[in-house]
Amino acid sequence: MRLVLLGPPGAGKGTQAQRLATEFDVPHISTGDTFRANALAETPLGRKAKEYMSRGALVPDEIVVEMVLDRLQKSDTEKGFILDGFPRTRPQAEALDSLLVSDGHRLDAVVDLVIDDELVVRRLVGRRSCPGCGALYHLSWGPPLLEGKCDNCGATLVKRDDDDKPTVRRRLEIYHSDTEVLEAYYATTGQLVKVAGDAPEVEVTRRALEALRAHLG
Ligand code: AP5
Repeated sequence: MRLVLLGPPGAGKGTQAQRLATEFDVPHISTGDTFRANALAETPLGRKAKEYMSRGALVPDEIVVEMVLDRLQKSDTEKGFILDGFPRTRPQAEALDSLLVSDGHRLDAVVDLVIDDELVVRRLVGRRSCPGCGALYHLSWGPPLLEGKCDNCGATLVKRDDDDKPTVRRRLEIYHSDTEVLEAYYATTGQLVKVAGDAPEVEVTRRALEALRAHLG
């Protein structure tokens, strides 16, 4: 299964990507997570990406494309992958298509999680994540059992630098100006599958799987 998860920040791409990766037994590849891991390790890629991420801007296409195309050459992607946060611009989408075509493949679907801007702000301001195992929590809708600690591994939960309200607004602006065009791009290729993301996680997964079954026949 070769899937892309599209949608604004906070739509639930990371949450649903983890669930769908388990369902289809393929790797979950998140460009945001890869940049954050590099930033934490203070690699040259991480230092460069941080300059853009901390102000809610997109990392330049050439940096992201090289990183993702490299990742997709790894043998664990032979059966497929779930791409979360890539592509985010038309040049990124075209680079992905070219790579897949050169390997004799194409995307099975692009799942577009639809959610309105105000819900995005509420979700992101309350998000907490685990730096140890990547688990996601929400202070109101999915808090950890013990305040501030991951249920799975006990690590101290963190709030992302780019989850303050002004930066979330900026990320939303960039989504509408640079990324939303991909809905039309993938609608033209017949790969777009829209899924309403404004429901509990389990229900969104159910909707996504039902929509994928209908799309793939
Ligand atoms: P990235 O990490 O990809 O961030 P994003 O796209 O802004 O998306 P988020 O991770 O914020 O949200 P999400 O949709 O994954 O939602 P989540 O599941 O966490 O990218 C960060 C930055 O990296 C970018 O701004 C850019 O600078 C750079 N970057 C990355 N890729 C790039 C690219 N291709 N090109 C250029 N630059 C790039 O859920 C959010 C919250 O809601 C959580 O608390 C969760 O628990 C909760 N939640 C989720 N689903 C539900 C639900 N159904 N009901 C209730 N709560 C829910």
